[in-house]
Amino acid sequence: MLDEQLRVKRANRFFYEMFLVSPAETEGRLIHQLGDGQWNIPNLIDQLKDVAAGNARLDGLEVDADFPAIGRKTMMVTTRVLDQEGPLNMVLLVISDMTKRKAAERAVQELSGRLLRLRDEEQRRIARELHDTTAQNLSALGMNLALVQRESERLGPEARAALSECVAIGDQCSREVRDVAALLHPPLLDEIGLASALRWYADSFSRRTGISVSVNVSPDLGRLGQDIETTLYRVAQECLTNIQRHSGSPTAEVRVERDEQEIRAELRDEGRGISSDALARHGVGIPGMRERVRQLGGRLDIRSDSHGTRVIVSLPLGGASAGGGGA
Ligand SMILES: Nc1ncnc2c1ncn2[C@@H]1O[C@H](COP(=O)(O)OP(=O)(O)OP(=O)(O)O)[C@@H](O)[C@H]1O
Ligand SMILES: [Mg+2]
Repeated sequence: MLDEQLRVKRANRFFYEMFLVSPAETEGRLIHQLGDGQWNIPNLIDQLKDVAAGNARLDGLEVDADFPAIGRKTMMVTTRVLDQEGPLNMVLLVISDMTKRKAAERAVQELSGRLLRLRDEEQRRIARELHDTTAQNLSALGMNLALVQRESERLGPEARAALSECVAIGDQCSREVRDVAALLHPPLLDEIGLASALRWYADSFSRRTGISVSVNVSPDLGRLGQDIETTLYRVAQECLTNIQRHSGSPTAEVRVERDEQEIRAELRDEGRGISSDALARHGVGIPGMRERVRQLGGRLDIRSDSHGTRVIVSLPLGGASAGGGGA
């Protein structure tokens, strides 16, 4: 409890236990003079002055500070002004120690970032493997079968029919393996970049689903970092899948543009919109997109009503990345 000058009137047992200080060292002192100035945290003191003057209120302000007896702490500070009988207000300061929770959150974020990167690398590796081995072997098989087919008049009718069937099955396997490899990780993304990979994905998505997709990518997009390209590609993939599974929209639009500072992607449909119920119990898709975007220091907004849904992602250019990036 502080008075208007930010002098400590009283503190409870938890305060003394948390900061390892005694009432004698605390009560009656100005907050910024406590314990060799350990509470002299400019951002906090300025805001507390506003609170005491009745001009502000702190609701979960996060404060990082070093305390000589207990080390570095992350605290959450909330204030309430208590009206007194007289002209002076009292400020009730509620301090929660968030250090462990923050460390746990950082660890989870670091882990999820690492898992997302591992999954991308794994998919890239499997796609390359499928392309370089199975797909190549199927091509060789197809060429050999074509060779045999040229001499198929020597075979009986049953064998000739079986051979034709083998050629058709070989072709089909070859297409399927290439499709699976490309869905796992489109070679275009690494080779010529996001714009071409998005167009390729939108085309194959349209063919599969009958939903017409327009792709508008600003011509000056250029190549972006691999992280950014992979993230935007995966976000587009998830959004289009959601559009097909949930929106009922006959159309979709993918838009990507950039300026000096950031790159912005928007995925839009004209479907039924996301109900608040659905958002509250969402699956893995939307939280996964959020996490990918957060890892790169960006933001993801969802705007949805009964006329459709827009997912808007902005990512900073220039390598800014959120805390907890890690290896
Ligand atoms: N474009 C959309 N239009 C309408 N509803 C949507 C749209 N996108 C998402 N939703 C709703 O939001 C919910 C959460 O989406 P999310 O992608 O997180 O999970 P999911 O698609 O159900 O499962 P998955 O984990 O496989 O992605 C969906 O179940 C759906 O109800
Ligand atoms: Mg989904």
